[in-house]
Amino acid sequence: MTSAMLNRAREYEAQQQKTILPRQRPGFHLTGAVGWVNDPNGFSFYQNEYHLFYQSNPYDVHWGSIHWGHAKSTDLVRWEYLPAALAPDMPYDAMGCFSGSGAALPDGRHLLMYTGVERVTRADGTQAELQAQCIAWGDGINYEKDESNPVLTAADLPEGASDTDFRDPKLWQEPDGSFRAVLASDRGDGSGQVLLYRSDDARAWELVSVLDQSNGKLGGMWECPDFFPLGDRQVLLVSPMNMEPSGLEFHAGNNVIALIGSFDGRNFHREQVQNMDYGLDFYAPQTMLAPDGRRILVGWMQNWATCSFVPAGAKYFGQLTLPRELHWHGGRICQQPIRELEDYRKNRVVCQKVFVERETVLAGIRGSMIDLLLTLRPEPDCAFLQIALRQGGCHETTVTYFPGEQRLCLDRSRSGYRFDVVHTREIAVQPEDGTLKLRLILDRFSLELFVGRGEQTASVVLFTPEQEDGIAFRARGNAEIDVEKYDLIIEP
Ligand code: FRU
Repeated sequence: MTSAMLNRAREYEAQQQKTILPRQRPGFHLTGAVGWVNDPNGFSFYQNEYHLFYQSNPYDVHWGSIHWGHAKSTDLVRWEYLPAALAPDMPYDAMGCFSGSGAALPDGRHLLMYTGVERVTRADGTQAELQAQCIAWGDGINYEKDESNPVLTAADLPEGASDTDFRDPKLWQEPDGSFRAVLASDRGDGSGQVLLYRSDDARAWELVSVLDQSNGKLGGMWECPDFFPLGDRQVLLVSPMNMEPSGLEFHAGNNVIALIGSFDGRNFHREQVQNMDYGLDFYAPQTMLAPDGRRILVGWMQNWATCSFVPAGAKYFGQLTLPRELHWHGGRICQQPIRELEDYRKNRVVCQKVFVERETVLAGIRGSMIDLLLTLRPEPDCAFLQIALRQGGCHETTVTYFPGEQRLCLDRSRSGYRFDVVHTREIAVQPEDGTLKLRLILDRFSLELFVGRGEQTASVVLFTPEQEDGIAFRARGNAEIDVEKYDLIIEP
């Protein structure tokens, strides 16, 4: 039975969704049906379709009254909205149905696990928002919250851990049918840790181990953990809050890092840390294992520090990234746009061995929804080589390569923002034999940059008017480039 609150959200979504024109949304990046979106949730493959839920406040373009919005897709490119799946309609989740995950069960049920937030008055009279884990069973459209909710509470925490920062369960099922879940937790001193739990029925959970801890070194609270094998490694993905930058790494404040190491079934042994995105808009990603064995990641293409600029009149705000395939290569996690996107490539234009002048514009190379592949070959005297995108009027978004310093600079200062905050990022890159390869995926309101084989990515939201779709190449010194461009045409 769906609650009055959920029905209200569903009706509101159905009405409002129609008032947003397809060209007002991205072409292939998922947004909320209406209103606010943050983290992706419940990313899973259920009954032959990909299901992707998201933190949603349908009633506003700002965070609040957190529901789970829902969409599905057969190819991760074209999404169909489904009615909202969860509303904060129970006492134990009245302050929000926070982030969580989903799993398709062999018996045909779709299981969701999420964090319920409840406001309580403690014995000493102070107010607190307790976080506990809840489950819901569904059929791909309707989800019934379990009667034993919340199923994993503060009573299951290790000594000293905070009961108000205990969230974002990522669950999966082992081949023997038992469940595992990783949970984000504050150790009690503002420092993050990830807890591993085990259950036979998804209702009764026991703590297995503390997988890893920040110890105040890798940010504060760690949000949205994920835990999976990749190649011969084990990856613990976390989104640390309040993290200090070091060199060109970890500049987002709220970052996403991969802790990479090995797992013996109980304990995780960290060997290496990798920054997962170098752009301005990337947070709280989640992965799923596709039936063909691909590990696919999708993130929130926004960040808590960058979400205060909402264009006037917007009826929705926030997008998810393009789903990305993860590979272990050259001692790093590499990310590539999902290959299904290539099915939507049209109008190929290739320009090879172009000598770049001060301002080089190439016939047929423009667009605001494109897949652009570049090979940059600067000569030793080249000080910089710049790609200017989404040009027109007073706008342009630039990616500048400084070969001498092996550095890329991304700048979206002139991309439609009316907000003077940090709009640039720098990335240390490693060209191969003097050549740097880039792949740029442009949608109406974003740029996702993939460096080399995807060793690095950078995601940024743009608000440049759609018709401003010019592209120019600039160099100081001698440089040659190869350009391959495809329009991405996705009928709504
Ligand atoms: C991450 C996060 C999660 C939480 C959710 C609330 O962006 O803070 O930790 O579950 O957002 O919407």
